[in-house]
Amino acid sequence: MENGILAAMARGGFERVLALHDRRSGVRGYMAIHDTSVGPALGGVRRWVYRSDEEALRDCMRLARAMTLKCCLGGVDAGGVKTVLLDHPEVDWEAAYEYLGRVIEGLGGVVSCGPDVGTGERELAWIARETHHVTRPGARGPGRLSAATAEGVFRGMQAALEHLDGEADWPRRHVVIQGLGAVGRVLAERLLGAGVRGAGTELDPERAGAAEELGVELLDPTRELGEECDVFAPCALGGILHDLSIPRLRARIIAGSANNPLARGGHADALHERGVLYVPDFVISAGALMRGAHFHLERRRKPLGHIGERIGATVQGVLERAAAEGSSPQRLAVHEAERLLEERRADPLPAEPLAPS
Ligand code: PHE
Repeated sequence: MENGILAAMARGGFERVLALHDRRSGVRGYMAIHDTSVGPALGGVRRWVYRSDEEALRDCMRLARAMTLKCCLGGVDAGGVKTVLLDHPEVDWEAAYEYLGRVIEGLGGVVSCGPDVGTGERELAWIARETHHVTRPGARGPGRLSAATAEGVFRGMQAALEHLDGEADWPRRHVVIQGLGAVGRVLAERLLGAGVRGAGTELDPERAGAAEELGVELLDPTRELGEECDVFAPCALGGILHDLSIPRLRARIIAGSANNPLARGGHADALHERGVLYVPDFVISAGALMRGAHFHLERRRKPLGHIGERIGATVQGVLERAAAEGSSPQRLAVHEAERLLEERRADPLPAEPLAPS
């Protein structure tokens, strides 16, 4: 069973992986709980079409582990989890999300879930009918999570530009955003506000239209990688940077909100060797997690400015250290997050809730 799921769990340090199937709604999926050593596991629910169960499981596990790394470098006392639901036309989605709510409720607070690709406010409200362990939309929740991610990405980009050129000098910059969804659109607004020449690509025609109204130049998606620009911002799905796409890139910096845009870890080194500055994805995209976790653990909203500042400073630190050591920033950041994770695991929370003193 070298390549089986149990071996993969042991290699990646996972605590639990649940296979999900609900007879009533017809939904199927997985939940990977990566780490709960210092607090609940937090992470989004992704609804997506996968080619096979194996592909869905692999994606689920990779995304869950990335959430733990986000917590470690984001200074968040929580761990990572991810849920993926297989998109299918015959699923009754309202019932499916209610079912997921009951699964989460049954875990007794070990897991709390939030938004991700395919799961927005409407879906979270369906989950919230069955459990409190979910980021609530509207006034009763942590507020605009995608704005928190966008702010972190903006400040992380700024740190990267300052690292290379000594200044951000926004009005002189050209930024290409891949994906103008929940985060990409807010990021575009922020960049345009700073005076940037912003371009983007979007496959969904409705979203593309909305972005054009904002003043974002729409590019043909086949041209996005080859576009000469200061920053390429992946804000859609993972796995887009690989052996075929990397040689076509003409950006100096890669900095965006997508989880796991590198097809494999080694691609960070390939970018580094080509002289492209890759800002570690799990560092720059932690804004929503930081805001959601703060609300979940402390019942208060963390101001977007604080989140942006913290992410900007962390990116700056990672880039400086990586440059000093001659390593790729991603490699350095993963190493540092794994060291922090080991520290957490050496001093875990007791399994039973702490007794009131
Ligand atoms: N999709 C978010 C991320 O990948 C998940 C999330 C946001 C989870 C907010 C909890 C709270 O970071």
